Amino acid sequence: MQKIIAALDQRRDEARLGGGQKRIDAQHGKGKLTARERLEVLLDPGSFEEYDMFVTHRAVDFGMEQNIIPGDGVVTGWGTINGRLTYVFSQDFTVFGGSLSETHAQKICKIMDLAVQNGAPVIGLNDSGGARIQEGVAALGGYAEVFWRNVQASGAIPQISVVMGPTAGGAVYSPAMTDFIYMVKDTSYMYVTGPDVVKTVTSEIVTHEELGGASTHTKVSSVADAAFDNDIETLLEVRRLFDFLPLNAADKPPVVAVNDTIDRAEPSLDTLIPDSAQKPYDMREVILKIADEGDFLEIQQDHAGNILVGFVRLNGGTVGVVANQPLVLAGCLDINSSKKAARFIRFCDAFSIPILTLVDVPGFLPGVAQEYGGIIKHGAKLLFAYAEVTVPKVTVITRKAYGGAYDVMASKHIRADVNYAWPTAEIAVMGAKGATEILYRSELSDKDKIAKRTADYEARFANPFVAAERGFIDDVIMPNGTRRRVARAFETLKNKKQAVPLKKHGNIPL
Ligand code: HXC
Repeated sequence: MQKIIAALDQRRDEARLGGGQKRIDAQHGKGKLTARERLEVLLDPGSFEEYDMFVTHRAVDFGMEQNIIPGDGVVTGWGTINGRLTYVFSQDFTVFGGSLSETHAQKICKIMDLAVQNGAPVIGLNDSGGARIQEGVAALGGYAEVFWRNVQASGAIPQISVVMGPTAGGAVYSPAMTDFIYMVKDTSYMYVTGPDVVKTVTSEIVTHEELGGASTHTKVSSVADAAFDNDIETLLEVRRLFDFLPLNAADKPPVVAVNDTIDRAEPSLDTLIPDSAQKPYDMREVILKIADEGDFLEIQQDHAGNILVGFVRLNGGTVGVVANQPLVLAGCLDINSSKKAARFIRFCDAFSIPILTLVDVPGFLPGVAQEYGGIIKHGAKLLFAYAEVTVPKVTVITRKAYGGAYDVMASKHIRADVNYAWPTAEIAVMGAKGATEILYRSELSDKDKIAKRTADYEARFANPFVAAERGFIDDVIMPNGTRRRVARAFETLKNKKQAVPLKKHGNIPL
């Protein structure tokens, strides 16, 4: 028996060494952790159970018969994050550059199947040179098997991708179909074709980092949701994100113990809105003051800053926040902000996370670039998403809610459940100045007359009461009590049920 156990230990040690000490040192030399070290940071201590440690590839071409490393370049299994189950895979760059072979793919598919069956998220740590070149179509088939499972799992369990090294070619499409992508600054990149191909085809000269680094994907392309300085910080942030999410679509979002009281008033909110409607203020401040313990996990912080999206807790339970940000583009909706918010709203709906919408929006951003870029179609995404989702929705209008953007931003008419407004709210077709210039064009030369017309329009519409008189606003609330009112509203919606017409699925404008 002892000999047999010693042999097992030896096989395990061999597998744990991956591509060998030299390659492990090289990995460390780049400031990266190894696949197993990453799992140690991600998961609760001692919780990781590894599967398929002894799996090897079956390739025979290009000398691969003699080149066999147990585990085949990916560490898979399950563990817990703060006691809650998650399935994981972690690609091992020290083994054939983390490249994906047929068996490497089968290992990933096995844990994806288990995750769906057992109702737990999948977290994938990507660090790979792409399809195993020696295997050809067998590796490509492996990728497609993973892609198919990504789609089946979408909306059933949360899927989180962490890009911690190269992810190139078609390999980018597995992360792209998951719910969240986190990247590590300076050591990770994602692109469909690398700098060399780009140079050949378009003559553009670009570095790996410029083409597909974390900065590009968090700021410009919006492919990634967040980026952090190093492996450890990134993985700890994944743990933080995980804590906000339910385990599956049938599960309720977690409720955690928080050190905060729901009756906490915030008097500073009573003086937040500037005297001039033209002056901005920071909507992030409103979110932080409403949230339990001032904790806001922002998604896509560096992209489309005119809308803020992310998770907070109220009474310990997860709430998704969507908020116009007057500090950027005066809070106008545009193509990027519409896409950003629509996707977030649909994630919340898939996983029963209630949505709080904070509104201060002067309208859709005008301009040729926006129209040519398809603001009609992309703005419709946000409208469609809000109208489609059935989770509890509470809306607070802090200041402007003008025009179509009033309708879009979780208005009562598209079935928000509870709609509040601060006394500073202005709910109208447009701002008073623009409105009078159109209505009284013939009087434009008479400055006094126009000023009076503007004042009249302001007096009539620059307030929340016209909407409140019609029941479109359920109450006009004091800013300082927003946290309490919103949290209590969500309490009433806990057992909300909303029927939808029979259909296979809607057809959101893509
Ligand atoms: C087999 C691979 C590999 C691959 C890397 N290696 N990529 N082996 N298949 N795809 C091996 C290398 O031969 C090397 O082995 C080791 O991994 C480390 O690679 P290096 O090149 O030394 O590392 P580095 O300099 O850091 O460069 C990393 C890299 C580069 C940029 C990822 O390796 C690279 O360009 N690889 C090929 C990328 C690629 O074109 N992949 C196919 C994409 S198409 P030794 O033994 O020397 O240490 C694709 C299609 C998917 O993936 C389609 C899905 C639909």
